[in-house]
Amino acid sequence: MIAEEVYDLIPDDLFIRVDQLVPGSSVFLKLEGLNPAGSVKLKTAVALVADAENTGRPFPATRLIESTSGNLGVALAMVCAAKGYALTCVTDPNANSRSVRLMEALGAEVVVIDVRDGNGGYLQSRINYIRARLRREPHAYWLNQYANPAGPRAHRERTGRALVGALGHLDYAFIGAGTTGTLMGCAEFLRAHSPATRVVAVDTLGSVTFGGPPARRHIPGLGTSRRPEILDEKHLDEIVLVPGAEAVEMCRVLAEERGLLLGGSTGTVLAAVQNAAKDIPEGSVVAALSPDFGERYLDTIYDDVWVAERWPHLLGPETELDQARA
Ligand SMILES: Cc1ncc(COP(=O)(O)O)c(C=O)c1O
Repeated sequence: MIAEEVYDLIPDDLFIRVDQLVPGSSVFLKLEGLNPAGSVKLKTAVALVADAENTGRPFPATRLIESTSGNLGVALAMVCAAKGYALTCVTDPNANSRSVRLMEALGAEVVVIDVRDGNGGYLQSRINYIRARLRREPHAYWLNQYANPAGPRAHRERTGRALVGALGHLDYAFIGAGTTGTLMGCAEFLRAHSPATRVVAVDTLGSVTFGGPPARRHIPGLGTSRRPEILDEKHLDEIVLVPGAEAVEMCRVLAEERGLLLGGSTGTVLAAVQNAAKDIPEGSVVAALSPDFGERYLDTIYDDVWVAERWPHLLGPETELDQARA
């Protein structure tokens, strides 16, 4: 393949089997992290920027602005750099430092908001900041991934279509929920083209997306402190919440046993698959989505001290924990 632009390099047909999670069935993990932006959000970024272009606003005079926990910011920074557009990414202290550095390296302005909102997260504070910038700067335009239907539409036409195209028949689809753009798009495509597929939404415990009580969250990518506008539960068959500790444990086991260094949201989704295994009939075809890989989480999920501070039981005997802290 010879691409014109970096954001055209989006393979949508890469899967790896993780059958051990559901004995007797086939489990296909769709790998979304093998593009130049390293995550599923490159498809979202391409769609959001195209949507902004279609509003008729002047480019490059327009400054795009977006609230992002990391991956969308990296992807947007890549697309905007390639197109010569100005971009401001509004993020918070949960974003990993590597993502922030990537955004900056790609020429974006990065603003870190460290004031918590009423739900204990940062999302509402980030949005308040964006609204203030829009009032001050007439050329600023908010892409608004939480409300913009361009995101789900991209995943309906690309990610959902690719799932059915590659696997043909699938009994279950486990998909993580952040803004719910990926989830909504895939669910819509599956409803229309594979109606028997059971769509399982996976979120992290402590997220308010599906109405649960807010609590401290440690896994970036999944979960919100404010319900996303694009969410529509009618496309979903089941909603599962996974504690952060289970996600981290899954990530670390797959890294050590399969050489698969996956991101925290993938660990969350795969923990949900494993927890559901007892209810999945033998011979089923299960698809799960992996939004990104683990390199951006070396200082968190794969760092023994970080894990020991949050879930000491995951590190086993105290001697190991002491070694980690030493
Ligand atoms: C690592 C990771 N996983 C999952 C998601 C969730 O994707 P969506 O916002 O489409 O729900 C994101 C979104 O940023 C992410 O960065």
